[in-house]
Amino acid sequence: MTGGGGGRGPRGAPLTAVDLIRTKRDGGALTDAQIDWVIDAYTRGAVAEEQMAALAMAIVFRGMSYAETTRWTAAMIASGERLDLSGIGRPTVDKHSTGGVGDKITLPLTPLVAACGLAVPQLSGRGLGHTGGTLDKLEAIRGFRTRLSNAEFTRQLSSVGAVICAAGDGLAPADRKLYALRDVTGTVESIPLIASSIMSKKIAEGTSALVLDVKFGRGAFMRQYQDASALAATMVELGRSQGVRTVALLTDMNTPLGRAVGNAVEVEESLEVLAGGGPADVVELTLALAREMLDAGGMTGIDPADALRGGQAMDAWRDLVRAQGGDPDAALPIAVEREVIRAERSGVVVSIDAYQVGVAAWRLGAGRTRKEDPVSAAAGVRLLRRPGEAVVAGEALFELLADDEARIPLAKQAIEGAARIDDAPHEILPLVRERIA
Ligand code: URA
Repeated sequence: MTGGGGGRGPRGAPLTAVDLIRTKRDGGALTDAQIDWVIDAYTRGAVAEEQMAALAMAIVFRGMSYAETTRWTAAMIASGERLDLSGIGRPTVDKHSTGGVGDKITLPLTPLVAACGLAVPQLSGRGLGHTGGTLDKLEAIRGFRTRLSNAEFTRQLSSVGAVICAAGDGLAPADRKLYALRDVTGTVESIPLIASSIMSKKIAEGTSALVLDVKFGRGAFMRQYQDASALAATMVELGRSQGVRTVALLTDMNTPLGRAVGNAVEVEESLEVLAGGGPADVVELTLALAREMLDAGGMTGIDPADALRGGQAMDAWRDLVRAQGGDPDAALPIAVEREVIRAERSGVVVSIDAYQVGVAAWRLGAGRTRKEDPVSAAAGVRLLRRPGEAVVAGEALFELLADDEARIPLAKQAIEGAARIDDAPHEILPLVRERIA
Protein backbone atom coordinates (compact mmCIF):
# COMPACT_ATOMS: atom_id res chain seq x y z
CA MET A 1 0.00 0.00 0.00
CA THR A 2 1.84 3.07 -1.18
CA GLY A 3 0.12 5.30 -3.69
CA GLY A 4 -3.37 5.01 -2.26
CA GLY A 5 -4.63 4.35 -5.81
CA GLY A 6 -7.65 2.34 -6.85
CA GLY A 7 -10.49 4.86 -6.89
CA ARG A 8 -12.13 6.50 -9.91
CA GLY A 9 -13.43 10.05 -10.31
CA PRO A 10 -16.71 11.00 -12.05
CA ARG A 11 -15.38 10.55 -15.60
CA GLY A 12 -13.39 7.45 -14.79
CA ALA A 13 -10.20 9.35 -13.93
CA PRO A 14 -8.20 7.51 -11.27
CA LEU A 15 -8.27 9.01 -7.76
CA THR A 16 -5.09 9.07 -5.75
CA ALA A 17 -4.42 10.21 -2.21
CA VAL A 18 -1.51 12.34 -3.44
CA ASP A 19 -3.82 14.34 -5.73
CA LEU A 20 -6.24 14.98 -2.87
CA ILE A 21 -3.43 16.06 -0.56
CA ARG A 22 -2.05 18.45 -3.21
CA THR A 23 -5.49 19.89 -3.93
CA LYS A 24 -6.13 20.64 -0.27
CA ARG A 25 -2.56 21.79 0.38
CA ASP A 26 -2.97 24.37 -2.39
CA GLY A 27 -6.30 25.63 -1.04
CA GLY A 28 -8.63 23.81 -3.44
CA ALA A 29 -11.89 22.07 -2.62
CA LEU A 30 -12.34 18.30 -2.60
CA THR A 31 -15.13 16.89 -4.75
CA ASP A 32 -17.87 14.62 -3.42
CA ALA A 33 -16.33 11.68 -5.26
CA GLN A 34 -12.89 12.39 -3.80
CA ILE A 35 -14.26 12.61 -0.27
CA ASP A 36 -16.34 9.42 -0.58
CA TRP A 37 -13.36 7.61 -1.98
CA VAL A 38 -10.73 8.75 0.52
CA ILE A 39 -12.88 7.99 3.58
CA ASP A 40 -13.79 4.56 2.26
CA ALA A 41 -10.25 3.73 1.10
CA TYR A 42 -8.73 4.90 4.39
CA THR A 43 -11.20 2.80 6.42
CA ARG A 44 -10.31 -0.25 4.31
CA GLY A 45 -6.59 0.39 4.71
CA ALA A 46 -6.10 1.32 1.04
CA VAL A 47 -4.91 4.84 1.89
CA ALA A 48 -1.80 4.89 4.09
CA GLU A 49 -1.78 6.44 7.56
CA GLU A 50 0.88 8.98 6.50
CA GLN A 51 -1.24 10.06 3.55
CA MET A 52 -4.30 10.57 5.70
CA ALA A 53 -2.14 12.44 8.23
CA ALA A 54 -0.92 14.75 5.46
CA LEU A 55 -4.47 15.32 4.24
CA ALA A 56 -5.68 16.03 7.78
CA MET A 57 -2.85 18.55 8.25
CA ALA A 58 -3.76 20.24 4.96
CA ILE A 59 -7.36 20.47 6.22
CA VAL A 60 -6.16 21.97 9.51
CA PHE A 61 -4.43 24.75 7.54
CA ARG A 62 -6.85 25.20 4.63
CA GLY A 63 -10.18 24.25 6.23
CA MET A 64 -13.15 22.71 4.44
CA SER A 65 -16.19 24.45 3.02
CA TYR A 66 -19.58 23.67 4.45
CA ALA A 67 -20.32 21.46 1.40
CA GLU A 68 -17.10 19.51 1.90
CA THR A 69 -17.73 19.12 5.64
CA THR A 70 -21.26 17.84 5.03
CA ARG A 71 -20.02 15.28 2.53
CA TRP A 72 -17.10 14.28 4.79
CA THR A 73 -19.56 13.66 7.64
CA ALA A 74 -21.91 11.65 5.41
CA ALA A 75 -18.99 9.53 4.19
CA MET A 76 -17.90 8.80 7.77
CA ILE A 77 -21.45 7.78 8.70
CA ALA A 78 -21.57 5.54 5.62
CA SER A 79 -18.31 3.83 6.68
CA GLY A 80 -20.30 1.80 9.23
CA GLU A 81 -23.80 0.97 10.37
CA ARG A 82 -26.52 3.51 11.17
CA LEU A 83 -28.79 2.24 13.92
CA ASP A 84 -32.53 2.36 13.37
CA LEU A 85 -34.26 3.37 16.60
CA SER A 86 -37.65 3.99 15.02
CA GLY A 87 -39.12 0.92 16.76
CA ILE A 88 -38.35 2.15 20.29
CA GLY A 89 -41.86 3.48 20.77
CA ARG A 90 -40.88 6.93 22.03
CA PRO A 91 -38.98 9.83 20.48
CA THR A 92 -35.21 9.53 20.87
CA VAL A 93 -33.06 12.51 21.93
CA ASP A 94 -29.38 12.45 22.79
CA LYS A 95 -27.02 15.00 24.35
CA HIS A 96 -23.38 15.52 23.54
CA SER A 97 -20.93 17.62 25.53
CA THR A 98 -17.60 18.67 24.09
CA GLY A 99 -16.16 17.87 27.51
CA GLY A 100 -15.09 19.73 30.58
CA VAL A 101 -13.92 19.55 34.16
CA GLY A 102 -16.48 18.18 36.61
CA ASP A 103 -18.91 17.63 33.72
CA LYS A 104 -21.06 14.85 35.15
CA ILE A 105 -24.25 16.19 33.57
CA THR A 106 -24.95 13.03 31.52
CA LEU A 107 -25.44 11.06 34.75
CA PRO A 108 -28.44 12.96 36.14
CA LEU A 109 -29.68 14.20 32.74
CA THR A 110 -30.14 10.85 30.99
CA PRO A 111 -32.49 9.27 33.57
CA LEU A 112 -34.21 12.63 34.11
CA VAL A 113 -35.18 12.97 30.45
CA ALA A 114 -36.20 9.30 30.31
CA ALA A 115 -38.39 9.86 33.37
CA CYS A 116 -40.12 12.66 31.42
CA GLY A 117 -41.03 10.23 28.62
CA LEU A 118 -38.29 10.36 25.99
CA ALA A 119 -35.79 7.64 25.10
CA VAL A 120 -32.15 8.69 25.58
CA PRO A 121 -29.53 6.68 23.66
CA GLN A 122 -26.40 8.10 25.25
CA LEU A 123 -23.16 6.90 23.65
CA SER A 124 -20.33 8.24 25.75
CA GLY A 125 -16.57 8.28 25.89
CA ARG A 126 -13.64 8.01 28.23
CA GLY A 127 -11.56 10.80 29.65
CA LEU A 128 -8.29 11.82 28.08
CA GLY A 129 -5.99 14.46 29.55
CA HIS A 130 -7.56 17.01 31.89
CA THR A 131 -11.21 16.33 30.94
CA GLY A 132 -13.11 13.43 32.45
CA GLY A 133 -15.13 10.78 30.64
CA THR A 134 -18.63 9.58 31.47
CA LEU A 135 -17.75 5.89 31.07
CA ASP A 136 -14.92 6.17 33.62
CA LYS A 137 -17.32 7.77 36.10
CA LEU A 138 -19.95 5.04 35.63
CA GLU A 139 -17.37 2.30 36.06
CA ALA A 140 -16.89 3.56 39.64
CA ILE A 141 -20.25 1.83 40.29
CA ARG A 142 -19.73 -1.82 41.19
CA GLY A 143 -20.68 -4.15 38.33
CA PHE A 144 -21.63 -1.41 35.81
CA ARG A 145 -21.11 -2.56 32.21
CA THR A 146 -20.30 0.11 29.63
CA ARG A 147 -19.99 -2.23 26.62
CA LEU A 148 -23.34 -3.42 25.31
CA SER A 149 -24.27 -5.21 22.10
CA ASN A 150 -26.59 -3.40 19.66
CA ALA A 151 -29.40 -5.76 20.72
CA GLU A 152 -28.85 -4.98 24.43
CA PHE A 153 -28.70 -1.27 23.62
CA THR A 154 -32.04 -1.17 21.79
CA ARG A 155 -33.72 -3.53 24.29
CA GLN A 156 -32.75 -1.34 27.24
CA LEU A 157 -33.75 1.79 25.37
CA SER A 158 -37.26 0.33 24.94
CA SER A 159 -37.59 -0.99 28.49
CA VAL A 160 -35.83 1.64 30.65
CA GLY A 161 -35.81 4.54 28.16
CA ALA A 162 -32.16 5.31 28.91
CA VAL A 163 -28.78 3.76 28.12
CA ILE A 164 -25.29 5.13 28.73
CA CYS A 165 -22.61 3.02 27.07
CA ALA A 166 -19.62 3.01 24.73
CA ALA A 167 -20.19 3.32 20.99
CA GLY A 168 -20.07 -0.09 19.30
CA ASP A 169 -17.25 -0.85 16.84
CA GLY A 170 -19.68 -0.76 13.92
CA LEU A 171 -20.53 2.95 14.29
CA ALA A 172 -18.49 5.34 12.11
CA PRO A 173 -15.32 3.17 12.00
CA ALA A 174 -13.72 5.80 9.74
CA ASP A 175 -13.90 8.27 12.60
CA ARG A 176 -12.43 5.84 15.12
CA LYS A 177 -9.39 5.35 12.89
CA LEU A 178 -9.08 8.98 11.87
CA TYR A 179 -9.52 10.38 15.40
CA ALA A 180 -6.76 8.10 16.71
CA LEU A 181 -4.51 9.32 13.88
CA ARG A 182 -5.36 13.00 14.49
CA ASP A 183 -4.65 12.55 18.17
CA VAL A 184 -0.99 11.66 17.47
CA THR A 185 -0.36 13.97 14.51
CA GLY A 186 -1.39 17.35 15.93
CA THR A 187 -4.46 17.50 13.69
CA VAL A 188 -7.31 17.55 16.20
CA GLU A 189 -7.67 21.35 16.11
CA SER A 190 -9.84 21.87 13.05
CA ILE A 191 -13.50 22.86 13.27
CA PRO A 192 -14.60 20.85 10.18
CA LEU A 193 -12.72 17.76 11.42
CA ILE A 194 -14.02 18.04 15.01
CA ALA A 195 -17.59 18.76 13.91
CA SER A 196 -17.67 15.87 11.42
CA SER A 197 -16.06 13.52 13.95
CA ILE A 198 -18.60 14.24 16.69
CA MET A 199 -21.62 14.39 14.42
CA SER A 200 -20.83 11.24 12.42
CA LYS A 201 -20.95 9.18 15.64
CA LYS A 202 -24.05 10.88 16.98
CA ILE A 203 -25.96 10.57 13.70
CA ALA A 204 -24.92 6.93 13.18
CA GLU A 205 -26.31 6.04 16.61
CA GLY A 206 -29.79 6.72 15.17
CA THR A 207 -31.13 9.46 17.46
CA SER A 208 -33.86 11.63 15.97
CA ALA A 209 -32.85 14.78 17.85
CA LEU A 210 -29.66 16.00 19.48
CA VAL A 211 -28.79 18.69 22.02
CA LEU A 212 -25.17 19.84 22.10
CA ASP A 213 -23.42 21.32 25.11
CA VAL A 214 -20.51 23.16 23.50
CA LYS A 215 -18.11 24.45 26.10
CA PHE A 216 -15.68 27.33 25.99
CA GLY A 217 -13.11 28.61 28.48
CA ARG A 218 -10.11 27.48 30.52
CA GLY A 219 -11.25 23.90 31.11
CA ALA A 220 -12.75 23.36 27.65
CA PHE A 221 -11.37 21.86 24.51
CA MET A 222 -12.17 25.20 22.79
CA ARG A 223 -10.83 28.00 24.94
CA GLN A 224 -12.12 30.86 22.78
CA TYR A 225 -15.81 31.70 22.72
CA GLN A 226 -15.70 32.45 18.96
CA ASP A 227 -14.22 29.02 18.16
CA ALA A 228 -16.80 27.24 20.32
CA SER A 229 -19.56 29.26 18.67
CA ALA A 230 -18.30 28.39 15.16
CA LEU A 231 -18.05 24.71 16.12
CA ALA A 232 -21.59 24.75 17.52
CA ALA A 233 -23.00 26.41 14.38
CA THR A 234 -21.24 23.86 12.13
CA MET A 235 -22.56 20.92 14.16
CA VAL A 236 -26.12 22.28 14.18
CA GLU A 237 -25.99 22.58 10.38
CA LEU A 238 -24.53 19.09 9.99
CA GLY A 239 -27.28 17.61 12.14
CA ARG A 240 -29.90 19.37 10.06
CA SER A 241 -28.32 18.14 6.81
CA GLN A 242 -28.81 14.57 8.04
CA GLY A 243 -32.39 15.08 9.23
CA VAL A 244 -31.50 15.19 12.96
CA ARG A 245 -33.04 18.14 14.84
CA THR A 246 -30.02 19.73 16.53
CA VAL A 247 -29.71 22.56 19.05
CA ALA A 248 -26.56 23.77 20.81
CA LEU A 249 -26.03 25.60 24.08
CA LEU A 250 -22.74 27.44 24.55
CA THR A 251 -21.72 27.04 28.17
CA ASP A 252 -18.96 28.47 30.33
CA MET A 253 -16.19 26.06 31.32
CA ASN A 254 -13.84 28.52 32.99
CA THR A 255 -14.91 27.15 36.38
CA PRO A 256 -15.31 23.42 37.14
CA LEU A 257 -18.93 22.24 37.28
CA GLY A 258 -20.10 21.52 40.81
CA ARG A 259 -17.95 20.66 43.80
CA ALA A 260 -16.54 17.31 42.68
CA VAL A 261 -14.03 16.43 39.94
CA GLY A 262 -13.12 12.78 39.45
CA ASN A 263 -15.03 9.55 39.01
CA ALA A 264 -16.75 8.19 42.16
CA VAL A 265 -17.02 11.71 43.60
CA GLU A 266 -18.89 12.85 40.48
CA VAL A 267 -21.27 9.89 40.72
CA GLU A 268 -21.90 10.86 44.33
CA GLU A 269 -22.67 14.46 43.30
CA SER A 270 -24.97 13.27 40.51
CA LEU A 271 -26.92 11.24 43.07
CA GLU A 272 -27.38 14.41 45.12
CA VAL A 273 -28.89 16.09 42.04
CA LEU A 274 -31.14 13.10 41.37
CA ALA A 275 -32.29 13.27 44.99
CA GLY A 276 -33.43 16.87 44.44
CA GLY A 277 -30.32 18.63 45.86
CA GLY A 278 -26.79 19.13 44.54
CA PRO A 279 -24.78 22.21 43.52
CA ALA A 280 -26.78 25.01 41.89
CA ASP A 281 -24.70 25.12 38.68
CA VAL A 282 -25.03 21.36 38.06
CA VAL A 283 -28.78 21.55 38.62
CA GLU A 284 -29.07 24.62 36.37
CA LEU A 285 -27.23 23.02 33.45
CA THR A 286 -29.01 19.67 33.88
CA LEU A 287 -32.39 21.41 33.72
CA ALA A 288 -31.40 23.71 30.82
CA LEU A 289 -30.30 20.72 28.74
CA ALA A 290 -33.32 18.65 29.81
CA ARG A 291 -35.68 21.44 28.67
CA GLU A 292 -33.94 21.58 25.29
CA MET A 293 -34.13 17.80 24.94
CA LEU A 294 -37.83 17.72 25.82
CA ASP A 295 -38.47 20.51 23.35
CA ALA A 296 -36.45 18.77 20.60
CA GLY A 297 -38.36 15.56 21.31
CA GLY A 298 -41.71 17.32 20.99
CA MET A 299 -42.66 17.01 24.70
CA THR A 300 -44.27 20.24 25.77
CA GLY A 301 -45.78 21.26 29.09
CA ILE A 302 -43.44 19.11 31.20
CA ASP A 303 -41.15 20.69 33.80
CA PRO A 304 -38.16 18.39 34.36
CA ALA A 305 -37.61 19.97 37.80
CA ASP A 306 -40.75 18.10 38.93
CA ALA A 307 -39.15 14.74 38.05
CA LEU A 308 -36.09 15.63 40.17
CA ARG A 309 -38.21 16.72 43.11
CA GLY A 310 -40.68 13.85 42.76
CA GLY A 311 -38.06 11.07 42.67
CA GLN A 312 -38.97 9.76 39.18
CA ALA A 313 -35.52 10.68 37.84
CA MET A 314 -33.85 8.75 40.68
CA ASP A 315 -36.07 5.72 39.95
CA ALA A 316 -35.02 5.86 36.27
CA TRP A 317 -31.34 6.10 37.35
CA ARG A 318 -31.67 2.99 39.51
CA ASP A 319 -33.36 1.12 36.64
CA LEU A 320 -30.58 2.18 34.25
CA VAL A 321 -27.80 1.10 36.65
CA ARG A 322 -29.44 -2.29 37.33
CA ALA A 323 -30.11 -2.89 33.62
CA GLN A 324 -26.39 -2.43 32.94
CA GLY A 325 -25.31 -4.85 35.68
CA GLY A 326 -24.53 -2.26 38.35
CA ASP A 327 -25.60 -2.17 41.96
CA PRO A 328 -27.21 1.21 42.70
CA ASP A 329 -26.89 0.56 46.45
CA ALA A 330 -23.21 -0.43 46.48
CA ALA A 331 -20.86 1.90 48.35
CA LEU A 332 -18.66 3.96 46.03
CA PRO A 333 -14.86 3.65 46.27
CA ILE A 334 -13.24 5.98 48.81
CA ALA A 335 -9.73 7.43 48.49
CA VAL A 336 -7.22 6.44 51.15
CA GLU A 337 -4.95 9.45 50.66
CA ARG A 338 -6.31 12.95 51.31
CA GLU A 339 -4.67 16.33 51.40
CA VAL A 340 -6.29 19.68 52.06
CA ILE A 341 -5.21 22.87 50.27
CA ARG A 342 -5.79 25.96 52.41
CA ALA A 343 -6.44 29.63 51.62
CA GLU A 344 -3.41 31.89 52.03
CA ARG A 345 -5.57 34.96 52.67
CA SER A 346 -9.08 35.92 53.69
CA GLY A 347 -11.61 37.32 51.24
CA VAL A 348 -14.05 36.09 48.59
CA VAL A 349 -13.20 33.41 46.03
CA VAL A 350 -13.62 35.14 42.65
CA SER A 351 -12.51 32.40 40.26
CA ILE A 352 -11.38 28.77 40.19
CA ASP A 353 -9.34 27.74 37.18
CA ALA A 354 -11.00 24.69 35.64
CA TYR A 355 -7.88 23.70 33.70
CA GLN A 356 -5.69 23.64 36.82
CA VAL A 357 -8.28 21.62 38.74
CA GLY A 358 -8.64 19.22 35.79
CA VAL A 359 -4.88 18.69 35.61
CA ALA A 360 -4.72 18.11 39.38
CA ALA A 361 -7.50 15.47 39.20
CA TRP A 362 -5.72 13.84 36.27
CA ARG A 363 -2.40 13.73 38.16
CA LEU A 364 -4.17 12.25 41.19
CA GLY A 365 -5.18 9.32 38.96
CA ALA A 366 -8.74 10.25 37.93
CA GLY A 367 -7.72 10.68 34.28
CA ARG A 368 -5.41 9.04 31.80
CA THR A 369 -2.56 10.10 29.52
CA ARG A 370 -2.85 7.28 26.98
CA LYS A 371 -6.11 5.67 25.88
CA GLU A 372 -5.12 2.29 27.32
CA ASP A 373 -4.19 3.59 30.81
CA PRO A 374 -6.44 2.57 33.74
CA VAL A 375 -8.02 5.26 35.93
CA SER A 376 -8.59 5.39 39.68
CA ALA A 377 -12.26 5.37 40.66
CA ALA A 378 -11.62 7.11 43.99
CA ALA A 379 -9.16 9.83 42.94
CA GLY A 380 -10.21 13.43 42.35
CA VAL A 381 -10.61 16.90 43.76
CA ARG A 382 -13.33 18.30 45.99
CA LEU A 383 -13.99 22.03 45.76
CA LEU A 384 -14.72 23.18 49.29
CA ARG A 385 -15.26 26.77 48.14
CA ARG A 386 -16.83 28.03 44.91
CA PRO A 387 -16.68 31.48 43.28
CA GLY A 388 -18.71 33.97 45.30
CA GLU A 389 -18.04 32.23 48.63
CA ALA A 390 -16.11 33.85 51.49
CA VAL A 391 -13.03 32.23 52.98
CA VAL A 392 -10.78 32.96 55.97
CA ALA A 393 -6.99 32.50 55.72
CA GLY A 394 -6.11 28.92 56.66
CA GLU A 395 -9.53 27.48 55.76
CA ALA A 396 -9.77 24.61 53.27
CA LEU A 397 -10.23 25.45 49.57
CA PHE A 398 -9.72 22.03 47.98
CA GLU A 399 -9.39 18.42 49.08
CA LEU A 400 -7.16 16.20 46.95
CA LEU A 401 -8.07 12.49 46.83
CA ALA A 402 -5.82 9.66 45.65
CA ASP A 403 -5.08 5.96 46.06
CA ASP A 404 -1.37 6.59 46.19
CA GLU A 405 0.30 9.35 48.21
CA ALA A 406 3.07 9.64 45.64
CA ARG A 407 0.55 11.33 43.34
CA ILE A 408 -0.15 14.21 45.73
CA PRO A 409 2.90 16.50 45.25
CA LEU A 410 2.48 16.95 41.47
CA ALA A 411 -1.27 17.49 41.90
CA LYS A 412 -0.54 20.16 44.53
CA GLN A 413 1.74 21.90 42.06
CA ALA A 414 -0.99 21.85 39.41
CA ILE A 415 -3.66 23.33 41.67
CA GLU A 416 -1.47 26.01 43.23
CA GLY A 417 -3.07 29.42 42.70
CA ALA A 418 -6.16 27.89 41.04
CA ALA A 419 -8.49 29.74 43.40
CA ARG A 420 -8.21 33.55 43.17
CA ILE A 421 -9.28 35.41 46.28
CA ASP A 422 -10.15 39.12 46.33
CA ASP A 423 -11.54 41.55 48.88
CA ALA A 424 -14.99 41.78 47.27
CA PRO A 425 -16.99 39.45 45.01
CA HIS A 426 -16.69 39.80 41.19
CA GLU A 427 -19.61 39.51 38.81
CA ILE A 428 -20.44 35.86 38.04
CA LEU A 429 -21.35 35.52 34.36
CA PRO A 430 -24.23 33.25 33.28
CA LEU A 431 -23.37 29.59 32.78
CA VAL A 432 -25.42 29.24 29.58
CA ARG A 433 -24.23 32.00 27.27
CA GLU A 434 -25.94 31.37 23.94
CA ARG A 435 -28.38 29.06 22.18
CA ILE A 436 -27.75 28.12 18.55
CA ALA A 437 -30.53 26.41 16.61
N1 URA B 1 -14.25 14.66 20.13
C1 URA B 1 -14.48 13.88 19.05
O1 URA B 1 -15.25 12.94 19.10
N2 URA B 1 -13.83 14.19 17.91
C2 URA B 1 -12.97 15.23 17.79
O2 URA B 1 -12.44 15.45 16.72
C3 URA B 1 -12.74 16.02 18.93
C4 URA B 1 -13.40 15.71 20.09
